[in-house]
Amino acid sequence: MKIFNLFLASSIFLTACKSQSHNNSIAVDQHTQSNAQAVSCKHLQLAIQVDFEQQQLRGCATWEIENKDADELHLDTDQLSIDSVLVDAAKVSFHKDTTVPHLGERLRIPIQKNSKQVAIYYKTGAHPRALQWLTAQQTLSKTKPFLYTQSESIYARSWIPCPDGPGIRFTYDATVQVPLGFMALMSAENPQSLAKDGQYQFHMPIAIPAYLMALAVGDIAFKAIDARTGVYAEPTMIAKAANEFSEVGKMVSQAEKLYGPYRWGRYDMLVLPPGFPIGGMENPKLTFCTPTIIAGDKSLVNLIAHELAHNWSGNLVTNATWNDFWLNEGFTVYFERRLTESLTDKSYADMLWELGYQDLEATLEDLKGKPEDTKLKLNLAGRDPDDGLNDIAYEKGALFLRAIELKVGRTAMDTFLNQYFNHFAFKTITTEQFLDYLNEHLLNQYPDVVKDLAIEAWVYGAGVPKNEPRADQDRFKQVNAVRTSFLETNAIDTKATQSWTTHEYLHFLRLMPKPLAVSKMQKLDDLFHFTQTGNAEIADLWFIMSVAANYMPTPYTTSNEAMRSFLSSVGRRKFIVPLYKELMAHPYSVPVAKEWYKAFRANYHPLAQESLDALIGK
Ligand code: BES
Ligand code: ZN
Repeated sequence: MKIFNLFLASSIFLTACKSQSHNNSIAVDQHTQSNAQAVSCKHLQLAIQVDFEQQQLRGCATWEIENKDADELHLDTDQLSIDSVLVDAAKVSFHKDTTVPHLGERLRIPIQKNSKQVAIYYKTGAHPRALQWLTAQQTLSKTKPFLYTQSESIYARSWIPCPDGPGIRFTYDATVQVPLGFMALMSAENPQSLAKDGQYQFHMPIAIPAYLMALAVGDIAFKAIDARTGVYAEPTMIAKAANEFSEVGKMVSQAEKLYGPYRWGRYDMLVLPPGFPIGGMENPKLTFCTPTIIAGDKSLVNLIAHELAHNWSGNLVTNATWNDFWLNEGFTVYFERRLTESLTDKSYADMLWELGYQDLEATLEDLKGKPEDTKLKLNLAGRDPDDGLNDIAYEKGALFLRAIELKVGRTAMDTFLNQYFNHFAFKTITTEQFLDYLNEHLLNQYPDVVKDLAIEAWVYGAGVPKNEPRADQDRFKQVNAVRTSFLETNAIDTKATQSWTTHEYLHFLRLMPKPLAVSKMQKLDDLFHFTQTGNAEIADLWFIMSVAANYMPTPYTTSNEAMRSFLSSVGRRKFIVPLYKELMAHPYSVPVAKEWYKAFRANYHPLAQESLDALIGK
């Protein structure tokens, strides 16, 4: 009987995969115009100068190549202006193809069979999508201008001519010249003090894909947490940041206990100015993060758990193409929640799972007309990958792994994941390779569960399969009770709310009726002072509720000063896009949305500007 089941189960699984011809073993990356298969780019030597006056990077990218048998090297560029190209020190005539939407301009460089080195002298264009140049006014310390990059997904090409695909890895060295008194940091071994001459040398001996290339320059201080971890931030933020992240050293050790050694040497974090358009970015050796997670009570450090986890899922085992993005993010969310659980307890992690589930439901609702975008395996051909990369990869991906864990048990799951990270370390992987590996190293020991798992539906189907796991609601049941009694009687049991963390408050507010009566808004504000909260997650949600309710906190103003101040500095897309959307949805708040966007647009990152221009107009 067992043998029969095994046969049946694996043949169902195999036919399921084969029947839809998903098992394409050679991953085609539709978002690079480079020819990395024919010419491998092994090592990059970057020498650039950072010019704050002209807001421009200038310099030379030298690639050490191994030519298999091509007569041209093809690199990705996006609005770069190329001054000259030398192949083994001899000037050559290069060619730049016309712009392909989303992908930029392919750079063609003639090479010989035995060519070894290609040097490209270049400058960045007028609006590089990876770069945000901030004036001193737009920083926290207001002392010096600031520059940072955000290369994921396909924006590295806007500041370095490179083979820009997640499946292509290289090592790098860099020399970065900045004005005197500035600090420069990269996704590499980093300095901990100022270079007297403004010249910084970087060394990255571990091969990484272009989307993990990163640079930040500004008035930046360093503070150690322990021997292997530390934090960089603007001087006015450094003490607060070091305090918020004081447990991160332990977090790294705990992550190692779960899923094997941290292989990147140091783990540091850089807290960026508030305009940073995302929450965090897993740049190797140096996570970039938004200051909006510095809540004062460590309640939002699970974002660091997430970026740290990427050093296994993403940086170590990398999605081969952006169609396989869930392999980066779904695994990372799963890992992040397991890590958080092991540092706190199950009831805490369950809250994160439940809030994630609510995010997933909201995303599914948003994507109602676009079922293709709700699959784990995506087809992003012809699109900017960023348009297709949404919560599905994160939450549906993590839930899929959780569904597997629940079937096979935690011990087997963790053994498998350790094996997986080891086996594919420093490699790239497609969804199909993962499924093969999963089948061979885990599921074939559990033939009975394969059918129940509905793998085909999870990975290649739209929406979420019926067997989705749901977290226990222990702590949220109490929150629901407090909310219900508040809605019915206007009374709040403050004994119950005393022990609440950020996540209980988020759940409390998320399930309030929308709009909530102004009197009820006022009552909540009197009790919890939400309008004045320093917690950006709660503030954002509360401001959205305030707009919907047309609630203006006392002393009565026609525009909400706290909200104005929030929008004037915070650039995190996840917060400001929904808030502007709510403002644009009501006739009474449209004028203020327009007025604020006009005033604050320059404070936002180019990519955030793109989303908001579409919503509000320039
Ligand atoms: N790697 C992502 C950020 C990213 C994804 C940038 C796709 C560009 C394209 C990062 O790890 C991330 O997921 N950040 C989240 C953090 C959250 C899930 C804890 C964010 O910024 O909100
Ligand atoms: Zn992530």
